[in-house]
Amino acid sequence: MRTRPAEPRDATILAQIHVNAWREGYKGIMPADYLAALSIQEREAQWRSALSENGLGSYQLAEFRNEVTGFCIYGPPRDETLSTRNCGELLALNISPDHWGKGFGTLLVQHVIEHATSSGWDTLYLWVLKKNTRARSLYEKLGFEFDGTEKTEQLAPGFELSEVRYCLPVGG
Ligand SMILES: CC(C)(COP(=O)(O)OP(=O)(O)OC[C@H]1O[C@@H](n2cnc3c(N)ncnc32)[C@H](O)[C@@H]1OP(=O)(O)O)[C@@H](O)C(=O)NCCC(=O)NCCS
Repeated sequence: MRTRPAEPRDATILAQIHVNAWREGYKGIMPADYLAALSIQEREAQWRSALSENGLGSYQLAEFRNEVTGFCIYGPPRDETLSTRNCGELLALNISPDHWGKGFGTLLVQHVIEHATSSGWDTLYLWVLKKNTRARSLYEKLGFEFDGTEKTEQLAPGFELSEVRYCLPVGG
């Protein structure tokens, strides 16, 4: 089990994992028709362009015996209130449902924590859906805590999602 930076050749498998993890993980949290309409082809195009431009942040994947099992994305803070702080954001974490519960999610978050520490950030933060108990318990096991900040976003007309912000102090 190891992690490595994602490359353009990984776009197809990352798009499949992305859509499959959302469909399974957000069942009962997001509307079924929204999840059914997610397109692997569209995601693949997004991944291809993101990985060739290497723009938004860093893309790291987990693999086991040359099989890609999941990925995370992290980078500079998007929250305006945190943008002047020396911190970073974990923007996405998705593991293939076939490989849930085997430690890949933990491995990737630990990679980001190590990156945060070696980069001298003082805080690593992320947004997680309030109802996403599986992910929340992973983050809590790794020491993240809800910092009291919540937001609501409109996913589709008439459908809102609540998210909570989790922070982890890192470094000295
Ligand atoms: C959340 C997710 C990343 C967890 O990845 P994973 O590789 O299964 O996580 P791990 O195997 O490292 O498990 C770590 C912890 O997560 C929690 N967890 C994992 N599977 C769980 C399950 N089925 N039910 C409840 N908690 C679970 C547990 O706290 C677990 O610790 P434990 O093994 O000591 O009990 C994965 O389920 C996923 O991709 N979900 C869909 C997308 C998503 O929710 N991403 C997070 C966005 S903020």
